[in-house]
Amino acid sequence: MWFLLWIIIVLLSIKIFNKLSTGRCYIDTVMSGKVVVVTGASGGIGFETALELARRGAKLIIACRSHEKGERAVRKIVKITKNKRIRFIHLDLTSLKSVRKFVEELKATEVKLDVLINNAGAICTTRDRTEDGILKDLQINYLGPYLLTVLLVPMLKNAAPSRVVVVSSSWHKFGTIEDLNSGKHGYIQSYANTKLCNVLFSKELARRLEGTGIEVNSLNPGQVNTSLYRSSTVLEKIRSLLLYSFFKTPEEGAQTSIYLAVSHECDQISGEYFEDCRLSKASYKAHDEEAAAKLWSISQELVKLTPDEMDACFSKVIS
Ligand SMILES: NC(=O)c1ccc[n+]([C@@H]2O[C@H](COP(=O)([O-])OP(=O)(O)OC[C@H]3O[C@@H](n4cnc5c(N)ncnc54)[C@H](OP(=O)(O)O)[C@@H]3O)[C@@H](O)[C@H]2O)c1
Repeated sequence: MWFLLWIIIVLLSIKIFNKLSTGRCYIDTVMSGKVVVVTGASGGIGFETALELARRGAKLIIACRSHEKGERAVRKIVKITKNKRIRFIHLDLTSLKSVRKFVEELKATEVKLDVLINNAGAICTTRDRTEDGILKDLQINYLGPYLLTVLLVPMLKNAAPSRVVVVSSSWHKFGTIEDLNSGKHGYIQSYANTKLCNVLFSKELARRLEGTGIEVNSLNPGQVNTSLYRSSTVLEKIRSLLLYSFFKTPEEGAQTSIYLAVSHECDQISGEYFEDCRLSKASYKAHDEEAAAKLWSISQELVKLTPDEMDACFSKVIS
C-alpha cells in the first residue's frame, strides 16, 4: 500500500516537473503573408504546430499521406481559426515519386516558401522496404524529408529570409549512420539512426546554405503523448498507457517547432539544435562534420538526386 503511494507521488512529481520545465513560445509574431508547409500535420505535434501557425495568419499547406486525415485537419483548423488560407496537398514520404509530385504541385501554385517544417515521422517495427528499395522508417523520417527539402530550396530562396525546421528527437544520441539502409539494426536503433540523420542533415544543409538567408535548425519536442508509440503488441500498449499520462500534450510538444518557425530571437541562428524553445546541445555525434558530409553523399545517391536538381538547389540564381 505504502509502496503504491510512493510510486504515485514520484510519478506525480515527474508530471509537475515536466509541466514546469516545458518550454513555451511566447513570441507573438504574426505570420500573415507567410507560406508555410507542415508535414505530418494530420495529428499529434504536426497538427498543433499547423493550428498555431494558422491562428497567426499563415498561408498553410498541410502535407500528409492520407487524403481523408489531411482534409479533416484542414476543416478543423479552418473552423477553429477562421483562417481560410489552409489547404491539403498529398505527400507520402515512403514514395520519392510522391515527394517530387508534391513539390511540382506546390510550385504550380506558390512562388515562395517561407517556412518548411519537416515534422512527419514514424516508428516502424518491421524492416519493410519502400518502392524505392529504402527501409521504410529511414525514408519517412529522413530520406523523404531530405529530398523534399533539397527540392524546395529554390522556393525557400525566393522567400529569404526563410526557415527550415527539422523535428528530431533526443534519441539521436543513440544513433549511428553506419549501415543505415542495411536492415541489420533493430527498429529502436533504426529510429535513433534516422533522428541522428535529421540533426546531421540540418547542420550540413545550414553549412551549404550559408549566406542565402535560409536558416535550418533541428529540435527535440520532448516526450509527447501522440500516436507515435502506438504498437500492436499488448506489452507496448500497457507501457504506452502508463507513460502517456506523464508525457507532454501535443500542444506542449509543438512549442519548439512553433518557436523556430516564428521567433525573431533565432533570426541569425542556423545549424543548431533546440529543446523547450531554447538552444540546446546536440550529442557529440551530431557535431561530426565528416559524418555529415558522408551522410549527404549517401543520401544524394539513395534518393537519386539529379545534377539538375542539385544545381537548382545550390546555384546562386533565384528562379
Ligand atoms: N511523440 C514523441 O514523444 C516524440 C518525441 C521525439 C520526437 N518526435 C518526433 O515528432 C514528430 C511528430 O511525431 P508525433 O509524435 O506527432 O507522431 P504522430 O502523431 O504519429 O504524427 C506523425 C505524423 O507523421 C505522418 N506520417 C507518417 N508516415 C508518413 C508518410 N509515409 N508520409 C507522410 N506523413 C507520414 C503521420 O500521418 P498519419 O496520420 O497518416 O499516420 C502523422 O501525421 C516525428 O518526427 C517524431 O519522430 C516525437
